[in-house]
This record gives sequence, structure tokens and C-alpha cells, in this order.
Amino acid sequence: MGCALSGSGISPGKTIPESKWCPSAESQAASKAGPEHGGDGPGAVPFPLVDAQKERIQESWRILHDNIARVGIIVFIRLFETHPECKDVFFLFRDIDDLQQLKMNKELRAHGLRVMSFIEKSVARLDQEDKLEQLAFELGRSHYRYNAPPKYYEYVGIQFISTVQPILKERWTPEVEEAWQSLFKYLTAAMKRGYYRKRRNRAASNPLALRKPGTGSILNRI
Ligand code: HEM
Repeated sequence: MGCALSGSGISPGKTIPESKWCPSAESQAASKAGPEHGGDGPGAVPFPLVDAQKERIQESWRILHDNIARVGIIVFIRLFETHPECKDVFFLFRDIDDLQQLKMNKELRAHGLRVMSFIEKSVARLDQEDKLEQLAFELGRSHYRYNAPPKYYEYVGIQFISTVQPILKERWTPEVEEAWQSLFKYLTAAMKRGYYRKRRNRAASNPLALRKPGTGSILNRI
């Protein structure tokens, strides 16, 4: 697959095919307990990471931290390359077709930094499972307002992993990869529950709130 990131300073590496993103046994349990399987609300999914995995994540994040602005941009450029329909959710850049131009866009940079800051907060809360889950659950609720559908959330983790792999070089191991996969599976499962909870609450309080895709709130048009 071609990549719009040549010259970004980070070797694009290979985008991991979704079919090869093998969830750990724990994260499979997480997704089975997701909203479509009856799980709901914070606490619906057991925390999947053991101490050794938390340490692998914390250690790799210390290196990644110096690169977060670039990583944030690349993750979203690759998301838009592989799933162009995701770009339509962003009113700020939905009309920019040239991904090279978008790479320089200051709003995309700011958005990438917000997402990376969320990852940073998550890494800092690996030992506070309740807080971590609440954080992701609330983020999922906000994404209902942004009209960003859950089916796309896991793609962000896939692109994150393929972006950070060349930065970590020989420090990237199958064990590090599995730890990050498990974390993203967990976070996105909690986000999905937050999204569906918000949607259900909105539908209960106002049946007219159930809207067609693409007619989201003005929050993501500013
Ligand atoms: C693991 C997946 C994702 C994470 C961690 C994530 C994280 C975030 C964060 C931290 C924000 C800042 C605002 C806030 O805190 O509420 C945000 C905003 C937003 N996200 Fe996501 N996001 C993810 C996936 C997606 C996807 C797949 C889409 C689109 C298809 C999307 C669309 C948006 C939009 C439209 C906004 C509001 C505009 C903005 O703040 O720039 N997000 N996201």
C-alpha cells in the first residue's frame, strides 16, 4: 500500500493487516463482552494486562513520548488512507483531499496531539483500572457527539502500532506488540460501550436524537 508519509522522518513501515492483528485471549474476552454481546457500562470487561505487559507499555512510551506530535499525525493520515470514509467525520479537514497537504494541517496536528495525550493518560493509569476504564468510557460518550462510529475505533490502534514499530526499532518485540494490542482492544471496547450508552440515553430521552449518519452535532463542524 502506498503511504503519504514519505519524508515525514519516520519510515512508514508496513501497515499491519487487520487479519494479522491477533487479539490476546484476554482481549477476545473483552470484545465478546462488548455492547453487541450484552456488556455495558464501566466494569463490563476484565482488565487484560498483567504487570509485565504494563511495564512493556510504560517503557516503550518513554521512548515514544518524544515523537508524539509526528505519531499523532501519521496515525490519522494512515487512517484516512486506509479508511477514507473516516475523514468525512472531521468537518475541519473533510474537504482536504491531498493527504500531503493534510499532513501540514495545524488542526490535524492538534487533533493528533489530543489523541496522543489520551494515550499518555491511559499509560499513566495502567495501575488504576477503574479510572482508566472511566476515561475511555467517557471518551466513547464524546464520540457519540462527534458522530464517530465505533466500527472505526480499532483502526486507530492498528495504525498506532504500525507507526511506532519503526521508532522503537529493536525494542519492538512480539511481546511489546501484544501488550499494545491488548491495551487498544481494551480502550476501544470501553469507548464502544460509552458510545452505545450515550446513544441509548439520548434515544430514551429524545427519540428524535436518533439521527442518520453524517448529520452529527455542530461540535465537529467548528
Ligand atoms: C482509539 C481510537 C480513538 C481515540 C483514542 C480517540 C481520541 C480522541 C480524543 C482524545 C479526542 C479529543 C476530544 C475529547 O477528548 O473528547 C478526539 C476527538 C475526536 N475524534 Fe477521536 N479517537 C479515536 C477514534 C476516532 C475515530 C476512528 C474517529 C473518526 C472516524 C474519531 C473522530 C473524532 C472527532 C470528529 C473528534 C472531535 C474533533 C476534534 O477534537 O478534533 N475519533 N478523539
